[in-house]
Amino acid sequence: MAHVLGVEEEDIDPRERLDARRRKRFDELIRRRAGGEPMAHILGYMEFRDLRFRIRPGAFVPRQSSEFTVVQAARRLRGRRRPVMVDLATGIGPIATAAAHEVPRARVHGTDISADAVRQARANARELGVRNVTFHTGDLFGAVPGGLKGQVDVITIHAPYVPRDEVEYLPLEVRGFEPEHTLTDYSDLGLDLLGRAAAEGREWLRPGGWLLSEVSPDRVRAARTVMRAAGYRDLRSTRGWTDVTRVLVGRG
Ligand SMILES: C[S@@+](CC[C@H](N)C(=O)[O-])C[C@H]1O[C@@H](n2cnc3c(N)ncnc32)[C@H](O)[C@@H]1O
Repeated sequence: MAHVLGVEEEDIDPRERLDARRRKRFDELIRRRAGGEPMAHILGYMEFRDLRFRIRPGAFVPRQSSEFTVVQAARRLRGRRRPVMVDLATGIGPIATAAAHEVPRARVHGTDISADAVRQARANARELGVRNVTFHTGDLFGAVPGGLKGQVDVITIHAPYVPRDEVEYLPLEVRGFEPEHTLTDYSDLGLDLLGRAAAEGREWLRPGGWLLSEVSPDRVRAARTVMRAAGYRDLRSTRGWTDVTRVLVGRG
């Protein structure tokens, strides 16, 4: 209703009568939402760390839970002299763009296998005026500039972590509207992509650098095992303001 009226939610006047045009528009939006379409698709935008991202179909819709990954990443970047961050599986770039915005001294690279997502990430960063983030299309580190090997302070990854067999049980607003490759890596536990990122990540990290991985609460133990096997230490599971995910942190 606020969207149709062009006002903030708290400014909706319940006594106001809708004219026929707005009524029609409102009914249409309600019909789409009732069909499972995510709010962010309907509105065409979402707020993430006080930045407004344009949302179009064809990519993963950023989740509010990922704001905590940004907080964790920014905290670690601020303590570094010339901070560098790589956000793997960046999607439309919420984590990379917000971290770059919050730590203007940092150089941030976001990378995703989907060219469409990367196009959207670039467009959003440009529109938001965030200049210290660069996006690349490729498989994990495949398109990250080679000169950054051994120079990265923080790697973040919010991977597609839903186990292959669980995709069909996701809510309609997820499985019906987001591309499958953004939800699952098609492995039994949904941890293969993280495993690869963790293994490859160590040669990109500076000594003492961090890998931050957003995982579902029920996979924290398994993800911890994956990161430990790849050689990470000081492993900790951290919890933000939502109960949807945890951020597993480890030093490379
Ligand atoms: C759960 S979404 C997260 C997107 C973004 N980090 C966010 O929080 O909004 C997972 C992303 O992983 C990307 N992806 C899947 N396989 C990949 C791969 N092998 N290399 C890089 N990105 C990949 C998908 O295209 C998708 O954008």
